[in-house]
Amino acid sequence: MGFFKQTIRDVPLDGQTVLVRADYNVPLQADGTIDDDFRIRASLPTIRALRERGCKVVIISHLGRPEGKDASLSLESIGQRLAALLEKEVLFVGDCVGDKVYQVVRHASPSSIILLENLRFYPGEEADDEAFAKKVAQATNASYFIQDGFGVVHRAHASTHAITLLLPSVAGLLLEKEYTTITNAMRAPARPLVAVMGGAKVSDKIKVIKALVDEADTIVVSGAMANTFLTYRGLKLGKSKVEPDQSAILDEIYAAVEKKVGENRVDDFLMLPVDLAVSSDFANSERREVPADSLSDDDMALDVGKRTIEKVDAIVAAAKTVIWNGTLGVSEFSNFAHGSARLALALATHPEIESIVGGGDTVDFVLKWDARHGESFGHVSTGGGASLELMAGDPLPGVESLLDAKR
Ligand code: 3PG
Repeated sequence: MGFFKQTIRDVPLDGQTVLVRADYNVPLQADGTIDDDFRIRASLPTIRALRERGCKVVIISHLGRPEGKDASLSLESIGQRLAALLEKEVLFVGDCVGDKVYQVVRHASPSSIILLENLRFYPGEEADDEAFAKKVAQATNASYFIQDGFGVVHRAHASTHAITLLLPSVAGLLLEKEYTTITNAMRAPARPLVAVMGGAKVSDKIKVIKALVDEADTIVVSGAMANTFLTYRGLKLGKSKVEPDQSAILDEIYAAVEKKVGENRVDDFLMLPVDLAVSSDFANSERREVPADSLSDDDMALDVGKRTIEKVDAIVAAAKTVIWNGTLGVSEFSNFAHGSARLALALATHPEIESIVGGGDTVDFVLKWDARHGESFGHVSTGGGASLELMAGDPLPGVESLLDAKR
């Protein structure tokens, strides 16, 4: 399936000043150092392609959720990391509007890279304010806008929507790759398509689960989300985290599954853990494994158990496409990361399986787990909310607003 929007390949950008929206909202450590530069690395192909065409590349992004100017959320350190990764100078300007930006861009030579300050220092960004977008466009004097911040295209902000009303706007290479890979996995996958869904809340992923009931061949439910499903099915989960008030949603999901596969296949299609790794509390990290129907009042489910891991292994080994969103347990504790680690291993050692990994915690986990920084998987998405909304089939404002592909 081709991409339905124009990309940097479709427009005469050579020698032009271009405004690129990246998503450099990277995790930071307490001292402000970059915890993971995956999103910065993911932006490099577009920047390199634009430099090769002699463009002045002016990059904008947000970082965190500041309320006004906040030095701890400056993009300056991102600029330093970008420069190191590109092995090129990156000119950082401590603003994203105004004369300083205008002068730096004007005097920059072709193929220079200029990074502007955090867009969210201005309230106009999240308000999708056209006047703010106009100030950014005027300060940079850009001829084209390039949307490459896949992680932020589910937001209708000035740098994803209002700006596209002012400049001819096309997609960058990362956005195109993310969009087509995820859409193809949902709409035209090599089958069987197995979805492994985990993480904390059913309510965060309800639309995606509904879409997957239609599209997938098997859905594995894990993580704290599985506690909610198991409780709904009548099991007692002790002190485990269970999301309240989800029965109506789960009634709907089970009705849809039954309609699709028939009553007898419901539990094969929507696979829940058969055993769980438990502890009496987080601080006491001793791992004990018990059948899913045998938790005591004091047990807290923190990971899937060995029998479940083996079942998931077998299902994944027979799959041609695997969508993985949400960790299988509390994977920041190695004692409760067994399920996630075994799934990562299964995918990394079966490169013939098209794997698509998404979701903040899951991506953090695989990047730390994988010595090849995500290369061991088919596709590791830079999008959290954006990838969920795309899988759910929701229109993404930052994509919809780009120029349509010519047919
Ligand atoms: C993300 O990290 O999911 C994106 O950068 C969007 O950030 P936001 O949730 O603060 O809008």
